[in-house]
Amino acid sequence: MKAITFQGKEKLSFETVTDPSIIQPTDVIVKVVLTAICGSDLHVYREHEKGLDYGTVMGHEFFGEVVEIGSAVTGLKKGDRVVSPFTTSCGVCYFCKIGLTCRCQQGQLYGWVEHGHGLHGAQAEYVRVPLADSTLVKSPEGLSEEQVLLTGDIFSTGYFCAENAGVRPGGRYVVLGCGPVGLMAILAAKIQGADEIWAVDSVPERMAIAQRYGAVAVDLSKTDAKQFILEQTNGIGADAVMEVVGNPSAQQLAFDVVRPGGIISSVGVHTANNFTFSPVDAYNKNITYKTGRCPARHYMSKLLPLLGDQQIDLSAIISHRLPLAQGVEGYRIFDQKLDKSLKIILHN
Ligand SMILES: NC(=O)c1ccc[n+]([C@@H]2O[C@H](COP(=O)([O-])OP(=O)(O)OC[C@H]3O[C@@H](n4cnc5c(N)ncnc54)[C@H](O)[C@@H]3O)[C@@H](O)[C@H]2O)c1
Ligand SMILES: [Zn+2]
Ligand SMILES: [Zn+2]
Repeated sequence: MKAITFQGKEKLSFETVTDPSIIQPTDVIVKVVLTAICGSDLHVYREHEKGLDYGTVMGHEFFGEVVEIGSAVTGLKKGDRVVSPFTTSCGVCYFCKIGLTCRCQQGQLYGWVEHGHGLHGAQAEYVRVPLADSTLVKSPEGLSEEQVLLTGDIFSTGYFCAENAGVRPGGRYVVLGCGPVGLMAILAAKIQGADEIWAVDSVPERMAIAQRYGAVAVDLSKTDAKQFILEQTNGIGADAVMEVVGNPSAQQLAFDVVRPGGIISSVGVHTANNFTFSPVDAYNKNITYKTGRCPARHYMSKLLPLLGDQQIDLSAIISHRLPLAQGVEGYRIFDQKLDKSLKIILHN
């Protein structure tokens, strides 16, 4: 089959690789209909996150059709249209039971193979899905394939970020980063009742969508965001800051604009070794810092019905729909924020 594989810093290849096959009886093989490029793929692409074997198939977001079934799979059949969260999960371990499916004791992240161990990704024609019964979700009727796809990672992650921020009506919030995930955090914070949100970025088209979703955009390139947000909150700071970037400058800004006693909810994937602020800085502001991978499988059960019930449209953030064969170019565009790129969807 054809797939996008990792070949080193900023080097990907669209090449022929071995077709995936059933390894465990609980596996299925899915024919990928739609996949997407995530900000998390950029950490790998830029080699800020290191360790991935060359030749690993990239990508962890997909919607597709079940084409092969392991002998122990009971809840799925060939032809089922399914979506996957970005990690696999068993559904029965301690962590799955408490809703932390991203830390499943048997879970794996798609698109991460290190020293020959791990799970290939979904930016391909086919993908192997371990623990398929508990990992995959059948696509509900009445939702577009794109809406369903976006729930497997970024809508769930944005929702998780807003929940961790303790969003409630009347609170004052900051979202740092208006990439696809930051925009989903704004949308989710609105769904959860936030009135006032300041959305910080420097990319005009991203800030324009943030405004459409009901936030006030703060342009980092023109405004001292720290000073502005402190002024807007009478010197107090925001009740919570959703940090959806994953770099030290955003981490420090989150610390600077959160109020004493407030929450920093970080879903940005950080690759620096240390916090920009110290334990005593955190102590002196009484802050709560919440972070981690989104337990997307847990959120999907709630958010897929919500999309239909509340007629939520996620498609405003999709900037490009490209064939898989143009995916390597898609990475270049997304990485360099060219051509007003936001969420890039790849189709087979
Ligand atoms: N925790 C999880 O489970 C999870 C899931 C998905 C994505 N992520 C992470 O979320 C982050 C965002 O993903 P994305 O797809 O939206 O990526 P993205 O790279 O498209 O978006 C990042 C945005 O942050 C902006 N930015 C850069 N520095 C900034 C700063 N100092 N202050 C404010 N904005 C700044 C950029 O202009 C960009 O628009 C990434 O780190 C990604 O790895 C985490
Ligand atoms: Zn992702
Ligand atoms: Zn589990």
